[in-house]
Amino acid sequence: MDRVKRDILIAKADIDKRVQELADVISRDYEGKELVVIGILKGAFVFMADLIRSLRVPCMIDFVRLASYGTGTVSSGSIMITKDIETPIRGRDVLVVEDIVDTGLSLSFLVDRLKERDPQSLKVCVFLDKKERRKVPFEAEYVGFDIPDHFVVGYGLDFNEMYRFLPDVCVIKE
Ligand code: IMP
Ligand code: MG
Repeated sequence: MDRVKRDILIAKADIDKRVQELADVISRDYEGKELVVIGILKGAFVFMADLIRSLRVPCMIDFVRLASYGTGTVSSGSIMITKDIETPIRGRDVLVVEDIVDTGLSLSFLVDRLKERDPQSLKVCVFLDKKERRKVPFEAEYVGFDIPDHFVVGYGLDFNEMYRFLPDVCVIKE
């Protein structure tokens, strides 16, 4: 794991503080309600685990897995659900949790699919946001950190399935 050089972009202490702030805002916004929190596998699992333990509203959790297909390394925009949620969301307050929004293609696709199931409300909470990389307009209601256009790993985010276990968010140096 140490053959790849990396710099810490967001340290664990700053992550912890920000996650608590997000949880406070979300808890206030949903006071008296019950949430269905849907995490996007695999990247969101670390962030979601921390977030739900800081919430002061009760929640059910579920997961969805997406795959994007296209030629080359750049996502083409053709996305599909390879593992669906098992929880009915009609009439429920739904919060989708994702590690990072980049082009916006994955989340705009997923939000459209979930809205077809008539939730009472649907909002998105992303840990990281690379706003300058959007290919389709997408804005999450809750954002942990805005980051510049660097490839980052750690706190659930991977590079070729590695580094998800790192407690800090790091930038890989070529
Ligand atoms: P998009 O918004 O549809 O382009 O895709 C977001 C997905 O791309 C995320 O869920 C990540 O899996 C992946 N991704 C985008 N940027 C990064 C990064 O910097 N590090 C790790 N994964 C990333
Ligand atoms: Mg992902």
